[in-house]
Amino acid sequence: MDTQVAIIGAGPAGLLLSHLLHRRGIESVILRRHTRAYVEARVRAGVMEHEVAELLVRTGVGERMLREGLRHRGIKLRFAGRTVHVDFQDLVGRGVVVYGQQEVVKDLIAARLAAGGTILFEAEALRIEDVTGERPTVVFRHNGREERLRAAVVAGCDGFHGISRKSMPEGAVTTYERRYPYAWLGILARSRPVHEELIYVHSEHGFALFSMRSPTLSRLYIQVPPDTDLADWPDERVWDELERRLDDPSLGLERGEVLQKDLTVMRSFVTEPMRVGRLFLAGDAAHIVPPTGAKGMNLAVADVTHLARALFAFFERGDERGFETYSDLCLDRIWKVQHFSWWMTTMLHRDEDALPFDHRRQLGELRSVTESRGALTWLAENYTGLPLNVDELV
Ligand code: APR
Ligand code: PHB
Repeated sequence: MDTQVAIIGAGPAGLLLSHLLHRRGIESVILRRHTRAYVEARVRAGVMEHEVAELLVRTGVGERMLREGLRHRGIKLRFAGRTVHVDFQDLVGRGVVVYGQQEVVKDLIAARLAAGGTILFEAEALRIEDVTGERPTVVFRHNGREERLRAAVVAGCDGFHGISRKSMPEGAVTTYERRYPYAWLGILARSRPVHEELIYVHSEHGFALFSMRSPTLSRLYIQVPPDTDLADWPDERVWDELERRLDDPSLGLERGEVLQKDLTVMRSFVTEPMRVGRLFLAGDAAHIVPPTGAKGMNLAVADVTHLARALFAFFERGDERGFETYSDLCLDRIWKVQHFSWWMTTMLHRDEDALPFDHRRQLGELRSVTESRGALTWLAENYTGLPLNVDELV
């Protein structure tokens, strides 16, 4: 099989890339290890930056998001018995949209299939050959047979556990990693969100986050040790702990049916460079951020905007200069977002091994940030998203 761009992975990164390329007449084939039902059912991130939402709307895949997504003008930070409204709209003139990542994935799959795009489900990429040649080839397994997909370019959008990063020649890449001494226990519950905006809570019992997916679905998280066994957390215990950390009698936490329970480990990870020859990494394949800044999906989209621009220039004008600059352009934003995500994470979580000094310092930091319009503006700029330059892509 031959195509212009071979895309490994059908998460937000791979699907959006295929969609943007299609709009400029560039052909791609997406390989996807899992079934369509599996792809669409996983609960993932839920906050979209202002310009990410705009990109979806302006490229014709934002219709359902406009209808069902929840526009938020800010977030709440709660600590030491007080709740502070971080009003993004007032601070930087833009907000965010709460809309589940798997909903974005559903919308993009539907758009690709409706436009006659090729997504091979249950097609597992095994290895990539000739990464530094002119026709790299992805070897994959489909319907029990080994097949080959040849292309001018391979986009590795196969997430953290994919094969793309591992296919980069040894010695060509450096990775940077940091682990955190905690994880998030998440639940999806059929219950009215406790508040109209997200509440990030720093408490002496640990961090908690009150998020949502719709007016009847809550998405809630509590900080737990990384080696936590979900069996130790029956529903009642989760609700009790959420209530204890929120510690706000003015808000009634509705204990609805728990639909899902999961554990997210916290990690910061970056691969440099993100391109070797004709293989380009994008999204989680190249980097991971801890979820506190709500940046995972947004960063994947930002990579794809750079990759799409480089590929437009290559296929439309034979201009390969974008290949050389791709990695640096992505990494400029990635390291800023790594810093923001690390900052939100360390400011809001409680490290049980930290010194009593550090616990007091954290409260000082929270007061310092929330009492400074300058600091809140910086938070708002980052949370709602650094510039994406959507105009060039639509
Ligand atoms: N062959 C084919 N497909 C693969 C392979 C393989 N060997 N390995 C992984 N995949 C597929 C997965 O099945 C999935 O469809 O690659 C895709 C990776 O998707 P995501 O993990 O969603 O990654 P990405 O598109 O980069 O999106 C980043 O995901 O984890 C969240 O917080 C993160 O929101 C961010 C988003
Ligand atoms: C979510 O709703 O899943 C969510 C929201 C904000 C975050 C992380 C996750 O920072």
